[in-house]
Amino acid sequence: MTADAGAEYAYLRQVVFNQSQNVLDPSRDYLFDARLARLLRIHGFTRVEQLAHHLRRGRDPALERAIAEAMTINETSFFRDSRPFELMRLELLPRLIEARRPARSLRFWSAACSTGQEAYSLAILIREYFPLLAGWNIRIEGTDIASEVVQRARQGRYHRIEMNRGLPARFIVRYFDRHEDDWIAKPELRRICHFRQANLCIAPLLFHERFDVILLRNVMLYFAHQSRLTLLAGVHGLLAPDGVLLLGSAEQPADLAQWTPVLTGGTCYFRPRATGQ
Ligand SMILES: C[S@@+](CC[C@H](N)C(=O)[O-])C[C@H]1O[C@@H](n2cnc3c(N)ncnc32)[C@H](O)[C@@H]1O
Repeated sequence: MTADAGAEYAYLRQVVFNQSQNVLDPSRDYLFDARLARLLRIHGFTRVEQLAHHLRRGRDPALERAIAEAMTINETSFFRDSRPFELMRLELLPRLIEARRPARSLRFWSAACSTGQEAYSLAILIREYFPLLAGWNIRIEGTDIASEVVQRARQGRYHRIEMNRGLPARFIVRYFDRHEDDWIAKPELRRICHFRQANLCIAPLLFHERFDVILLRNVMLYFAHQSRLTLLAGVHGLLAPDGVLLLGSAEQPADLAQWTPVLTGGTCYFRPRATGQ
């Protein structure tokens, strides 16, 4: 790579950071070429450096957003890491259901939901193991910065290879309808899952009502320390006082003063500490 090209990749890394707070490692600059190929074609460029030159000449917020979205890592699967879902089934949901009996309402947020498998896993868990919730107001919100994955989550349509990652066969036939090589989530799941595009790093976060469970998994690892602090402070304000935060298995809250870790069921969840406000 020439020094010039190096500077253009650095510029693009900064664009991605400004838009999504994702910190990209220079050792992975080669990813720009593959991930931005479609955008380059659409805008009539042949090389990533030309795209960077174009942006340097004048700001183009829509294109900058599209670059940041294209560089996101959308890896996900049904019942990913299984233990948090077991914990939810055996411990967390029974406790929350008891506490919410008077209101008959439960709210979940799959923050950084990617193509929606996390939200649908939760919906399956609820429908399969908690039939008493059928008459309750259950709402699972899924948000992600990348519009394409949000679109896919809304469709609830998955290729059989995606289905075979983490989804037991009995759940496939019970909760999905087959369409050629794809499977589509049945209305009973789609009714309770709602997806929209949202950037976790734009304050204030878009919700006003509090959640009982927030899943913020496998996304903070791409953020810088300060972005994690800001995000978790916002998440703290959106969680019910007796609510639960679940992070990815390699993630920790940046500020433990606000959270109590609870180790149980071979995994860990976090309860919000009262902040005295
Ligand atoms: C690795 S996936 C994790 C998906 C799911 N939570 C899981 O654990 O399987 C990370 C997701 O975070 C999203 N993301 C990255 N930066 C974001 C931001 N600033 N705001 C919202 N979503 C973001 C990406 O688009 C991607 O879909």
